[in-house]
Amino acid sequence: MSLATAALAHARADRDAALARLVELVSIPSISTDPAHAPDIRRAAEWVAGRLRDAGAAGVRIDETARHPVVYGEVLVDAAAPTVLVYGHYDVQPVDPVELWDTPPFTPTVRDGRLYARGACDDKGQLMTHLEALAAWRAVGGKPPVNLKVILEGEEEIGSPNLDAWVRAHKGELGAELAVISDTAMLAPGQPSICYGLRGLAYVEIEVTGAPGDLHSGVYGGAVKNPASALAQIIAALHDDQGRVTIPGFYDAVVGLTDAERADLAAVPFDLGAFGQATGQAGGWGDPAYSIVERLGARPTLDVNGIWSGWTGPGAKTVLPAKAHAKVSMRLVPDQSPHEAAAQLAAHVQTLAPAGVSVAVRELHGGWPARVDRGMPALNAAAAALESAFGRAPHLTLEGGSVPVVALFKQELGLDTVMLGFGLPDDNLHAPNEKFSLDNYFRGIETNIHFLANLAAAAQGAAGGRA
Ligand code: BES
Ligand code: MN
Ligand code: MN
Repeated sequence: MSLATAALAHARADRDAALARLVELVSIPSISTDPAHAPDIRRAAEWVAGRLRDAGAAGVRIDETARHPVVYGEVLVDAAAPTVLVYGHYDVQPVDPVELWDTPPFTPTVRDGRLYARGACDDKGQLMTHLEALAAWRAVGGKPPVNLKVILEGEEEIGSPNLDAWVRAHKGELGAELAVISDTAMLAPGQPSICYGLRGLAYVEIEVTGAPGDLHSGVYGGAVKNPASALAQIIAALHDDQGRVTIPGFYDAVVGLTDAERADLAAVPFDLGAFGQATGQAGGWGDPAYSIVERLGARPTLDVNGIWSGWTGPGAKTVLPAKAHAKVSMRLVPDQSPHEAAAQLAAHVQTLAPAGVSVAVRELHGGWPARVDRGMPALNAAAAALESAFGRAPHLTLEGGSVPVVALFKQELGLDTVMLGFGLPDDNLHAPNEKFSLDNYFRGIETNIHFLANLAAAAQGAAGGRA
């Protein structure tokens, strides 16, 4: 029996324990945005560092940053074998509105073959598929067949403010042939996919100011511009009636899809019924020149994430608010720049501001869009691994979410990333009742074992070919 076969058999026999370990990790409320949870972030960092060590990594460290630590460890087996950089994030999103959870977010609960907990899918369950795969080789007395360098971040959900600097500072030790990240979704249960592109993000806050303080709406109303109305006017003007963004220059840097890509995307089995169910808008919305799959993966967007002003408590209060605010995000596609998009929005908003109010736009965070080389050989190893574990060949997909580290790895380390996603479209990421399919968890572990074995075999084949 080969080591890979033994590792697979071990992983299958060890499922209950693998689930128990994931339950431990998702019990830790490592909410990165909330300063009150900083000790929990630390506990989660220590937990994943410990697990990485148990799985066979050497020199596991918890590197401090200006905010939450980066956990790093290596498994170096053979200088002649390829090196794979594995990334995951151990931080999670806040749980509000907490009253909509059927079971408490940090009391992990299995129902119908799914684990319900904040972080179950995004990204603790998915990062654990890699640590469990690694542990399986060790459990059968062996080592993985390729070198691994593992980076586990605690700030992904707040825009990775310190990761760029960490990667730049450790460039010397991060040499690798490719990166692998499990932080995306499959198309449907039983239908794996490999994501070859993610959108970027530019996130801003708009503040509209009128009077120096709130005014009585009877005493002043009708004679001064209301900042809340001004903000509504500005926001309404940011799209045309076809759903296109009106910011001048917004689409200039967009690299269009090739005909071949459009044909591939048209062949992706997209579940329109599920889309209609999830959104309540069966027909979709947006630029009619693009299909819904294209709008989600290959076109940039502008969305209001939050809007507030004046009296929002119970009952009525007559007030003419001094200020109005909105949080606005733009999803970006290659080659749009997050800073450029934020600057274009800021400039355009100034031209839209009606007389009587002033407008300030502040950049909160951003990330670059990413496309990986669809011809990279590791995609074959990944596709074969998914087919072995799920019994079906994957589709290549574009996803609309953002994992800015993919572009960072390309820019700083020259690495393409294989995105092996094990989430499902209805896993409720960032929402109440987040869940992770246990079938995907266990098959994800098996996929990663196959993937490493396939990469090693391909490298040996290539070396043999040269000899
Ligand atoms: N894992 C998600 C991104 C994602 C979700 C990709 C679903 C593909 C499918 C990631 O943790 C995330 O939430 N990213 C944020 C951006 C980040 C900069 C805060 C996002 O996409 O909103
Ligand atoms: Mn994630
Ligand atoms: Mn997330």
